[in-house]
Amino acid sequence: MDEYIHDDDSYRRVQALLLEEMERGLGKETVAEATVKMFPTYVRSLPDGSERGNFLALDLGGTNFRVLLISLKGEKVNMQNKIYPISQELMAGAGEKLFDHIAGCISNFMMDHQLVGVGRIPLGFTFSFPCRQEGLAVGRLVRWTKGFHCQGVEGEDVVRLLHEAIRRRSDIDVECVALLNDTVGCLMSCAFLDHSTEVGVILGTGTNACYMERLNRVGTWDGDHGQPDQVIINTEWGAFGDNGCIDFVFTDVDRAIDHDSLNPGKQLFEKMISGMYLGEVVRRVLIKCINAGLILSGQVTEELDTPSRFYTKYLSEIEKTIARIMTAATCSTSALWSAREPLILPLPVSIATLLNRIDKPSVTVAVDGSLYRFHPHFHNLMTQKTQELLNPGLKFHLMLSEDGSGKGAALVAAVSNRIAAAAEANK
Ligand code: BGC
Repeated sequence: MDEYIHDDDSYRRVQALLLEEMERGLGKETVAEATVKMFPTYVRSLPDGSERGNFLALDLGGTNFRVLLISLKGEKVNMQNKIYPISQELMAGAGEKLFDHIAGCISNFMMDHQLVGVGRIPLGFTFSFPCRQEGLAVGRLVRWTKGFHCQGVEGEDVVRLLHEAIRRRSDIDVECVALLNDTVGCLMSCAFLDHSTEVGVILGTGTNACYMERLNRVGTWDGDHGQPDQVIINTEWGAFGDNGCIDFVFTDVDRAIDHDSLNPGKQLFEKMISGMYLGEVVRRVLIKCINAGLILSGQVTEELDTPSRFYTKYLSEIEKTIARIMTAATCSTSALWSAREPLILPLPVSIATLLNRIDKPSVTVAVDGSLYRFHPHFHNLMTQKTQELLNPGLKFHLMLSEDGSGKGAALVAAVSNRIAAAAEANK
């Protein structure tokens, strides 16, 4: 089972390669062949606490689709939201149908909250897929991830598709003023409370991170170079490794999971660690341990032998009851405990790479996603391992981001309103 455990040198090699890929993504001449796309987001200012107003937000890209109404009053934030299921059929059907469904949900939500006929409401759209942004409210989907594969959306501006669907209904008055990735929402929502937040990380169905970068290091930046001379970069690190550069850390399990996925050869880093795949990684490793006679007396149960039957949430549940399970199932503790570290290590490796690049003495890292939120040991393991991989003198702390996809969307919309109003007043 040693192939599942890498030494520190391998992880330092991965760090160096990730940094190289990130730099390639930021370079005008090199971005075309980069796998880590480093998209500039057009979000350049963080909240300062003075944000006010009512906003609608959409959150598409995790396990649920939600519509939210967010009211910002300085430090006070009120939120109401409703979850609307997205069927497998919608996830794989025509893009127009998906956007009609989304517009229908907005309409239903607005009726329920008496928001129809009260004037135009600004909306922030958290769309958690790789998008090349051409402005704050313009972004083309590069490719679907996480089990979505609706036709007619890749290459298109998703805000235009949303506005067209809203117009087709003609019963609501909504304008999408900001499109954002969930990592950006996560960063914004923590930055609202803690101004040293510079990184947003998601470890949920998929994985990704964004961070605040200086404009003079963003070769692909085509906006203005005025103040603030910074922009949030959506790294899209889930695609790290898609060019084969970290094949040396992939195991036969990683390769098998990729082979059986909807998008083979894509999002390889994401497939090592995120919630959509981690349960399956563990199931396959467990079967190997059983077949090698290490645990459960060589007996593979029918359930464990069923693909995708071991849900990622079991990891947190097992950890919480690990002592009891150990006794009942006579597991070898060492196998499970040593298996845990390589499972999460890719994340500290990539967070440390970002923090070393930012190179500030103390940075807050906003984190969200079910895997981080519900696992009893992720926080501590991540903190410990990230610190080990940091350059000397750098410090950080991980902060749980509360509902970044909703609150963050409202904050991005509100910050852009605040800046537009200030620019207008200075004319
Ligand atoms: C997407 C990212 C997203 C991440 C977490 C990935 O599959 O490509 O845009 O941020 O999932 O939701």
